[in-house]
Amino acid sequence: MKQTKLLLAAISASLLFAGSAGAVEIKDVMKAAMKGDDSLYNKVTKGKGTDADAKKLAACVKNLTGKKAPRGDQAAFDRKVDALIKAADAVANGNKQAVSQLINAGACKACHSAHKPEK
Ligand code: HEC
Repeated sequence: MKQTKLLLAAISASLLFAGSAGAVEIKDVMKAAMKGDDSLYNKVTKGKGTDADAKKLAACVKNLTGKKAPRGDQAAFDRKVDALIKAADAVANGNKQAVSQLINAGACKACHSAHKPEK
């Protein structure tokens, strides 16, 4: 948990320096926001997150903007990222209906099967 907090701090810090946006990798966002039962994403989509969690999630996924898709079609990846950011933003702004959009946009398998490199 402590590591996640540090990582989130690092990610928030990097948001302040638009010029160094390349420093945060997709993996960092996954570990900080998506991975695990008590991830920000899980808390927010299950209605267990606080407003602060929703805002952190929205800030965190913004780091995916402009990332090169490790695999698959770049335009398709960009669309998925865009949908995820929009849904997370809407939820952070208090739109409870957007939670279902966030669940769709954040579907792990749909994105991984197309864009996550095979090990
Ligand atoms: C919009 C696309 C997208 C969505 C949605 C997404 N992921 Fe990922 N995820 C990726 C990509 C791309 C990678 C590979 C990153 C790389 O290897 O550089 C990845 C990698 C990961 C990794 C490996 C990190 C590492 O250390 O190598 C984990 C864990 C992960 N995702 C968890 C999740 C979980 C859990 C969800 C759903 C709740 C999720 N992801 C949803 C795109 C996505």
